[in-house]
Amino acid sequence: MTTDTTGTAARDGQPRHGGPAHSPFVRACRREPGPHTPVWFMRQAGRSLPEYREIRANVPMLESCRRPELVTEITLQPVRRHGVDAAILFSDIVVPVAAAGVDLDIVPGTGPVVAEPVRTAADVDRIRPITRDDVSYVDEAVRLLVAELGDTPLIGFAGAPFTLASYLVEGGPSRTHAKTKALMYGDPDLWHALCARLAEVTLSFLRVQVDAGVSAVQLFDSWAGALSEADYRRYVMPHSVRVLGGLADAGVPRIHFGVGTAELLGAMGEAGADVVGVDWRTPLDVATRRIGPDKAVQGNLDPCVLLAPWPVVEAEVRRILDQGRAAPGHVFNLGHGVLPETDPDVLTRVVALVHELSARPVE
Ligand code: CP3
Repeated sequence: MTTDTTGTAARDGQPRHGGPAHSPFVRACRREPGPHTPVWFMRQAGRSLPEYREIRANVPMLESCRRPELVTEITLQPVRRHGVDAAILFSDIVVPVAAAGVDLDIVPGTGPVVAEPVRTAADVDRIRPITRDDVSYVDEAVRLLVAELGDTPLIGFAGAPFTLASYLVEGGPSRTHAKTKALMYGDPDLWHALCARLAEVTLSFLRVQVDAGVSAVQLFDSWAGALSEADYRRYVMPHSVRVLGGLADAGVPRIHFGVGTAELLGAMGEAGADVVGVDWRTPLDVATRRIGPDKAVQGNLDPCVLLAPWPVVEAEVRRILDQGRAAPGHVFNLGHGVLPETDPDVLTRVVALVHELSARPVE
């Protein structure tokens, strides 16, 4: 794990280890200088790790998300192994929706599958608001993790209304989001009612995580890139604004991420993010021009590059760090989640390389 040797902490008379709020990761999110560019990986806790596969054997995915000791162990595995600058809570975006009463399962090899897809206002009404008691296992897991992690920050997360709505309307994963868009264009009132309900569930879920001590939150709107900017602004953004704006007083950085969002980067920042996640299609200097100078960026190595020979990985890491210097803050990450076939040793080498190449004296 890294040592925070920043001048600010010394000036304030604080100990050099200022806790997660002074970590390189939180500093970069806040566009403050730090000792190096922080790095973590979406899906860092997961199928690329043998120790993960072992501990998950015979435990269904949703059940594993509801066992705080197991969540704690799985969340810590990549921190121990790779020395990443942040942990991300092991969970799934459908966990709060299941807690809200939606009958769903996570099917191995497929993903989330919803028993009765949303079609009517009555279906929307059945999605209940959630309280801490509905997700007490998450509250407990975050508290255990914060105690274990010390100076390493924990990132909480949730799915954004559009991405959640896609699973609920399609009934499962979809390439085109055709049923979702048909509902959005064909019955805007029902669409907005569904997204408003999902925004409340998501906001409550993130509040539980913030109250339990996470140092940052990431809102995953993984599939928002399926929309034009005009449709995003009209049908989706008000609901993501509700979630991110609802956390404005929470005192933790808010990261907003999607895939294929080159045209949406400005709007996703405007929705209330402190950090905008960028996939591999948009260079970080270009992304920064679209997002503006008052937000940090996160990204954006193509996860497939990790499957190439090391010299290719190294060259791409260098390019991304160079382009990231155009941003007022840069959190190194992938452009989307770690692929299951990734060699975990390559991830460890990437962390070391990012730290080495970006090391800088602070004051
Ligand atoms: O790596 C793993 O497979 C871990 C276990 C697992 C997760 N979700 C963890 C998770 C599994 C089997 C799932 C099921 C799932 N959920 C799938 C299918 C996965 C597959 O390839 O079989 C999908 C597509 C979902 C829905 C989902 N979950 C989305 C769209 C997102 C947002 C991130 C993304 O990939 O776009 C999630 C979040 C999620 N699921 C996290 C984790 C650990 C988020 C935190 C992180 O990035 O580490």
